[in-house]
Amino acid sequence: MQAYGHWKVAGSLAVLMLGASNTLAAERTGREVVEQTCATCHTSGKDGAPKIGDVAAWTQHSKKGLAKLTESAIAGIEKMPAHGGQPNLSDLEISRAIAFMVSFGKAVDPNKPYASPTSMTGEQLAQSHCVNCHGDGKEGAPRINDFNAWKPRLQKGMEGLVRSTISGHKAMPARSGMAQLSDTDLRNAVTYMVVQSATYQPRN
Ligand code: HEC
Ligand code: HEC
Repeated sequence: MQAYGHWKVAGSLAVLMLGASNTLAAERTGREVVEQTCATCHTSGKDGAPKIGDVAAWTQHSKKGLAKLTESAIAGIEKMPAHGGQPNLSDLEISRAIAFMVSFGKAVDPNKPYASPTSMTGEQLAQSHCVNCHGDGKEGAPRINDFNAWKPRLQKGMEGLVRSTISGHKAMPARSGMAQLSDTDLRNAVTYMVVQSATYQPRN
């Protein structure tokens, strides 16, 4: 009985996930957004915009944390217009553009691997990083093996959960606090945690 329930859950998860990737793919990559919009000021450093590739300048701004940077870019700050002056950019696209600029184009693009040429699996990322909060449920984070904690959140669909992870959600910072993680890395880690919670069997 128990096992059947788990398979059913896994089945509907698979359906959720198939639907999700198409929608995300329609949105622009960080590189595209930066080239089309942000580069106007962030290449030349117009009005004091931190320049792309200027490690010192971005380090200074990044100290606020990625969540704060995302907030400023969405709302606007000083001479920087809200959404970079393009109201049609989604929060997701803004977040990708920031990740692109903060990581100097290194790990940005949904198709690029985690910070190094060898890609990380969702399991590796979840077990090395997400576990810091999702292991013991820090600040209300749903625990990796606790399906009851994940269940109400699944109503958002995988798409919604991946978005929360990219943009940040309450106590969880944008991109879980690591700008170099691509959308794909985050999606893989979310998938791993959700499937893990649905299929977890306690020993004994
Ligand atoms: C019209 C010029 C202009 C455009 C276009 C522009 N920016 Fe900016 N941006 C600025 C300026 C100026 C600053 C420095 C603001 C300050 O004084 O803190 C800035 C700062 C930032 C910061 C740092 C915010 C902080 O809290 O320290 C981020 C992140 C950022 N921009 C992201 C973007 C993104 C993403 C885009 C494209 C979608 C974009 N910007 C397009 C002018 C621009
Ligand atoms: C600094 C702590 C922290 C780290 C690191 C962290 N999370 Fe979270 N996460 C949280 C907290 C806290 C919540 C619950 C937020 C709430 O709903 O109150 C959460 C919620 C979530 C949710 C549910 C979002 C929703 O919309 O309900 C997902 C999905 C998620 N995290 C994925 C991840 C992934 C993937 C990683 C690793 C790449 C990660 N988290 C790393 C703290 C963290």
